[in-house]
Amino acid sequence: MNITASAPWKAVEAHRQSLSSVHLRQLFSRDPDRAAALSLAFDGILFDFSKQRVDPSTISLLSALAREARLDEWTERMFSGERINASEDRSVLHVALRRSAGPFPSAEFDVMGDVLATRRRMIAFADSLRSGTALGFTGMPIRNVVNIGIGGSDLGPKMLGCALRSIAHPALAVHYVSNLDGAQLAPLLQTLDPRTTLFLLASKTFTTQETMLNAQTAREWLVANLGDAHAVSRHFAALTAKPERAIQFGIREEAIFPLWDWVGGRFSLWSAVGLALMIAIGPQAFAELLEGAERMDEHFRSAPYEQNLPVVMALIGIWNTNFLGATSYAVLPYNESLKYFPSFLQQLEMESNGKSVGIDGKPLACVANPIVWGELGNNGQHAFFQLLHQGGRLVPCDFIAAVRSDYPLPGHQEALLANCFAQSAALAFGKTVDEALLELQGTMPEEQIEALLPHKVFPGNQPSSTLLLSRLDPQTLGSLVALYEHKVFVQGIIWGLNSFDQWGVELGKAVASSILPAIGDPRLAGKFDPSTRGLLAFTRQYLA
Ligand code: F6P
Repeated sequence: MNITASAPWKAVEAHRQSLSSVHLRQLFSRDPDRAAALSLAFDGILFDFSKQRVDPSTISLLSALAREARLDEWTERMFSGERINASEDRSVLHVALRRSAGPFPSAEFDVMGDVLATRRRMIAFADSLRSGTALGFTGMPIRNVVNIGIGGSDLGPKMLGCALRSIAHPALAVHYVSNLDGAQLAPLLQTLDPRTTLFLLASKTFTTQETMLNAQTAREWLVANLGDAHAVSRHFAALTAKPERAIQFGIREEAIFPLWDWVGGRFSLWSAVGLALMIAIGPQAFAELLEGAERMDEHFRSAPYEQNLPVVMALIGIWNTNFLGATSYAVLPYNESLKYFPSFLQQLEMESNGKSVGIDGKPLACVANPIVWGELGNNGQHAFFQLLHQGGRLVPCDFIAAVRSDYPLPGHQEALLANCFAQSAALAFGKTVDEALLELQGTMPEEQIEALLPHKVFPGNQPSSTLLLSRLDPQTLGSLVALYEHKVFVQGIIWGLNSFDQWGVELGKAVASSILPAIGDPRLAGKFDPSTRGLLAFTRQYLA
């Protein structure tokens, strides 16, 4: 289906033309109730999209696109376990991972038996570590847990582990290692005691180069320090869909926690991949996280489009990308504990929807996902916000903040929130020539004012949404992550692509394996392109 040829798409395009010369200032002055009309609330989350360049009819018109793309049908197909990940012939059932009870209504199979049994094993394992009863090879309690994984086997638990660090177990340190670069693992190992360290090998495929190399190095370090290869079975656990490979590595069966082909890496934090997180925050908090996600699932499945947070968020993204022409959008958390949220969203959105071929194998008729980027908002203000304010580019932003702080210091939280609210207002409303002139008049000679004036003008009209959370508790964070997951799904359906495969990551992996032997053997360099040959030659000069 070519969505851009549909009547709803054309209606949105006509509407865009009618709004194209309207500034956010005018939209606000025309409608005093705009903020209330263009905000949605869900549990402890306020989603204010009134500073987007939309009016109430925009959302209704965009909703027709979701209907045209048969979003309801696709949603039910996902929830009923149909193999909607066509290119990999897989179901997409991460939503089953947050359910508290079975059976899961699936046409083909019920997954809840496996999900609940694995969750019970995770709870027992996490409890034994948290209570200090899980002992290492030498009989000492485990005190450090190192999650070795990358992409979806790292970003979700790491992001939430940081977001919830205020409730983390005080005597158990959880670390994350993803990078091939020894600069991450080597300094960490120096701080660890092998007798009290447990490694979690998180890899759905159990073949990912980065994870396997780090795992091998960790294994060698452990065996060298404890002097016995049998120690591996007490100091390693695996979270994987390939248990046979974990057994080969030396991990005992009781320490292998399964996941399944129907959960994609970037949607897997709710599964055994979340074990490091469960160990840190405890099974009760983990259950609350799942509950928050499940509540968002129910909302997504049942709320009318115009009141449905994931749907509205997705439609606004499509509006900004396909109708206003934005090529990127910025994620700006005003909360230090959310520092990994932009990276998490980069994988969730760009690995899911960074595609130009549709589910039918044909080129898409429009561009799909914009570039997702971001940084802690307060730091960004003193770095790149200049471009957002005066760079002349359209960069929609998601501002995210929590009202209550987990680390209250006198005056800090109020100032942080004031900055967050100020930036979205300044971006939206800007400062006109007249306003700038009024400020400058009388402060300096006229010629200086004239020279300075153009620099003091802010065009405004930069669109943003603000997600204000009551606080960073597990339930609210569960809802927040599920909100973005469903946003990605809705956009994928409207763009007509498969959000659940990731063929684009394969080529680089294959090329890297062919280059690897040539790093050490100059005779193999000849088959590569001149640039790669030059890089290899330079490398050989300096590599010890
Ligand atoms: O290379 C991309 C990717 O396959 C991601 O989709 C995935 O989250 C990550 O690598 C890690 O994969 P695995 O869990 O199999 O090690």
